[in-house]
Amino acid sequence: MEKVKSPRIITEIPGPKTREFLKELGLPVEYARIYPMPVEAEGIWMKDLDGNIFIDFISGRCVVNVGHRHPKVVQAIKEQADRIIHGTGLLRAKLTKRLAEVTPGDFPKNVVFPLSGSGTNDAGIKLARWSSRRPYIIAFTGAYHGVTYGALSVSSYLPRMVKGYGPNLPGIYHMPYPYCYRCPFRLEHPDCDLQCLRYMEDYAFKSYLPPEEVAAVLFEPIEGDAGWIVPPDDWLPTLKRICDDHGILLIAEEVQTGFGRTGKWFAVEHWDTVPDIILLGKAIASGVPLAACVGRADLFEREGERFGYGHTFSSSPLSCAAALATIDVIEEEKLVENSAKVGGYLKKRLEEMKEEHRVIGDVRGKGLLLGAEIVKDKESKKPGREEAREICQRAVQKGLYIIHMGAYGTATLRIAPPLIITQEQVDIALNILEEAISETER
Ligand SMILES: Cc1ncc(COP(=O)(O)O)c(C=O)c1O
Repeated sequence: MEKVKSPRIITEIPGPKTREFLKELGLPVEYARIYPMPVEAEGIWMKDLDGNIFIDFISGRCVVNVGHRHPKVVQAIKEQADRIIHGTGLLRAKLTKRLAEVTPGDFPKNVVFPLSGSGTNDAGIKLARWSSRRPYIIAFTGAYHGVTYGALSVSSYLPRMVKGYGPNLPGIYHMPYPYCYRCPFRLEHPDCDLQCLRYMEDYAFKSYLPPEEVAAVLFEPIEGDAGWIVPPDDWLPTLKRICDDHGILLIAEEVQTGFGRTGKWFAVEHWDTVPDIILLGKAIASGVPLAACVGRADLFEREGERFGYGHTFSSSPLSCAAALATIDVIEEEKLVENSAKVGGYLKKRLEEMKEEHRVIGDVRGKGLLLGAEIVKDKESKKPGREEAREICQRAVQKGLYIIHMGAYGTATLRIAPPLIITQEQVDIALNILEEAISETER
């Protein structure tokens, strides 16, 4: 792809070639107004069929943390394809070791390799139930964990995700996530005394859910598709304390927050918390399908038996090679540090924008995982879904690919560029975003 310094929009979006392409396939053109359809990509840039070039401000949904087609990742994939594509355990062993090194916890670990974020949630649930011989799993409202039955069952994102597909996996209980901007208990932190966790300990555990039968608490350290909701600082340490009190395993779901996204290798590190199991996906192999369920080694052995898990395509050499290269790039190019540094700058600018714009109700996030919650106005906090949609659509027309998401009918702009982004590039992107917001407000 040619080198550019700023977006290049030369047709309306979607352009004539994209329209023609969609028309031939009988697909609606509307979709491409909000979601550009790239046919080439490099670094932070994406190019469509008509030659329009966009900034990818969502990293392909938190997949290309090292940027699209990082040369080292591409080289590793090509070299691997020239050697063997299917069937060696050597790279898998190497990747197991590397993942054990970079994930939190200074203890022996083991890893199984599902093929998707959904699959790794299933693996986490199975591992926790199998190793503890306890039936119940605690998850949280607002969470999105994926589409397979296990992942769907721990999710609690949209009623339509489950409508018509039930019944889900039994034995899953959802607790309220600490969404302080819209507290479900209408309390304020810290005066709330973490009522969301009090509910679990003082009500659930004392009425319908015996804690000694709970295998695990499966949580996102920052709740992703719900609107990048960051819990208050005492939430995770308190959750960990509750788990320790009852022998419950802590499963950190870091499919979206892992690999430097939040300015630490893994988001739980912001709260110095070490989980028993950590679930990884998305950015792990820069776009080659791979996920990982990393856990304490002792959890994978029980009474002389081993935890059973295996797929035909699990930990394929191509995906392992891509993952090993991805981890190397994150280390060599100090992308965790860049995520923290450029993310800090980006957040500051978003906070300034919040002062200027009535539709930005809240700015939150860590590193380069940032969200701006869009509201009708700051006083009512009424969700601004139409406004968010318009902002994203206008931004795309100007060359900035950004989307919104949110649980409970809310809408948060999802800002998560590749971790290689520079401050200058952030300025270009935010100037476009601000223009789109101003136009929408008018
Ligand atoms: C936090 C989280 N977990 C799990 C998943 C599911 O991953 P996949 O789509 O790879 O199955 C997603 C996908 O968006 C996610 O954001």
